Amino acid sequence: MPDLARPPYLGEIPAPKAFRNAMRGFVGACSLITTGTGDMATGLVVTSGVSLTAEPPMILACINRSASSWPILKQTGVFGWSALGSAHQPVAERFSGVGGLKGQDRYQGAQWVTGATGARHLADAPLAFDCTVEEMIDRGTHSILIGRVQSILTNPDRGSLLYWNGAYHPLSSA
Ligand SMILES: Cc1cc2nc3c(=O)[nH]c(=O)nc-3n(C[C@H](O)[C@H](O)[C@H](O)COP(=O)(O)O)c2cc1C
Repeated sequence: MPDLARPPYLGEIPAPKAFRNAMRGFVGACSLITTGTGDMATGLVVTSGVSLTAEPPMILACINRSASSWPILKQTGVFGWSALGSAHQPVAERFSGVGGLKGQDRYQGAQWVTGATGARHLADAPLAFDCTVEEMIDRGTHSILIGRVQSILTNPDRGSLLYWNGAYHPLSSA
């Protein structure tokens, strides 16, 4: 039993490494942010994507300002947000840049549909939102990307792809 009278607080502001280590114990749901077309196409996998509000429909994600997608989001003002399903670990790995994959090459090996904004979405995503950039708010190393949802794509029974303790964990309903 933990001693609740003496919680294991370190009593000091955590260093970045301690913060990251602590966050390993927090389950994240993986999604893709896709942006840019042609030679400018890029994107990244995130665990920071969540719903912001239903009225009006908006989502948010936290994007490192050093990521290749950041300037493209600023420039184009549109993006796709695709939640990842239980079979999408290979897609997640490509969009995290495993093996040095960059830009358009991250899109290979999956099927895409183009929304009215021009942004692409994973065709078999459990859900995907076609978004315009509402606002990008800089805080620390990241920008809080707020997207206004213009349309929705859904595919039932695709499960979810979780990330916990440094590894992917597929979650399926079967
Ligand atoms: C499971 C997982 C979750 C991630 N979540 C985020 C995130 O929320 N925000 C972010 O900026 N980068 C996140 N990343 C890092 C990006 O996916 C990616 O590695 C990075 O943007 C690649 O940068 P590049 O496009 O400049 O090569 C995550 C990576 C992994 C593996």
